[in-house]
Amino acid sequence: MSVRFCGIELAHPIINGSGTFDAIAARRAFGDTLLDEFPFAAFVSKTVTVEPRQGNPPPRLWEVAGGLINSIGLPNKGLDGYLAQDLPELARLPVPLIVNVMGFTREEVARLVAAFAEREEVAALELNVSCPNVETGLIMGADPRETAALVTRVRPLTTKPIVVKLTPNATDPAAVAAAAEASGADAVSLINTLRGMALHPRTREPWLGGRTGGVSGAAVRSIALAQVSAVANRVAIPVVGMGGVQSGGDAADVLDAGATLVAVGTESFRDPAAACRISRELESLDRGQARPPDETPKQ
Ligand SMILES: Cc1cc2nc3c(=O)[nH]c(=O)nc-3n(C[C@H](O)[C@H](O)[C@H](O)COP(=O)(O)O)c2cc1C
Repeated sequence: MSVRFCGIELAHPIINGSGTFDAIAARRAFGDTLLDEFPFAAFVSKTVTVEPRQGNPPPRLWEVAGGLINSIGLPNKGLDGYLAQDLPELARLPVPLIVNVMGFTREEVARLVAAFAEREEVAALELNVSCPNVETGLIMGADPRETAALVTRVRPLTTKPIVVKLTPNATDPAAVAAAAEASGADAVSLINTLRGMALHPRTREPWLGGRTGGVSGAAVRSIALAQVSAVANRVAIPVVGMGGVQSGGDAADVLDAGATLVAVGTESFRDPAAACRISRELESLDRGQARPPDETPKQ
């Protein structure tokens, strides 16, 4: 089950999706047992921004059939708080640490990348490009030229692997992945959440404090699989696939669609140890065996 990802040796291919597992809180709750059987082969931290953020007003979650819509709004302590408080704790985890960063301008992202460039606690950086560039008004990961400009700006700042976390809310995520690769990204990860909305049952106004939110969980699995497959067919760099993975079979699908690693997100909210079960199930599958032919009529 061991796998090499951007030069990093991992015990198995299951990691977490950023923002879906609070390793610091989990360690407080479960103590060192968490470290003895850590669910993930690498840990991706929640998105860090330059300034501290409170996040969106409540309510922040809405359950949908097979998943949820979140409008958490990336609350975090900001770069200084992360460096002082979170990084020392996350560095004690028994697996490589991937730090996920997001900025509202290219210079903000550059500042974040530069801050982690020489930190030996950090194995790799993940760029969350699902936010607007306030200077151009474009979502950084929705347009290949925006993504290329961003990766070109930050690539010279570090020798650490750079993973670009793609947004599914783009016309052609594979074109964005190709632009990231051509500009020097070492890997891409996808999918982030899909934009969704729920209405308050009585007032008929948007339920979520942020009005819209991101849909995740089993409900997005088939969309994720299609996007992972399209991206993996387009780029030569490794792909981290995620979106609705709940079982070893789902993880095998993501790997067989061309991913090198699989991230588990929403399923960890239901069961914090889900990723342990998923890797056990994946290991027990005979993946060499041909799958039964798909006899479902194509629409
Ligand atoms: C509550 C919640 C918070 C999230 N926070 C982040 C985040 O901080 N940064 C990020 O890049 N993705 C974030 N994501 C997206 C996940 O990492 C993942 O891409 C997405 O949920 C799809 O995987 P899943 O269906 O297995 O959850 C978040 C998702 C959820 C549900």
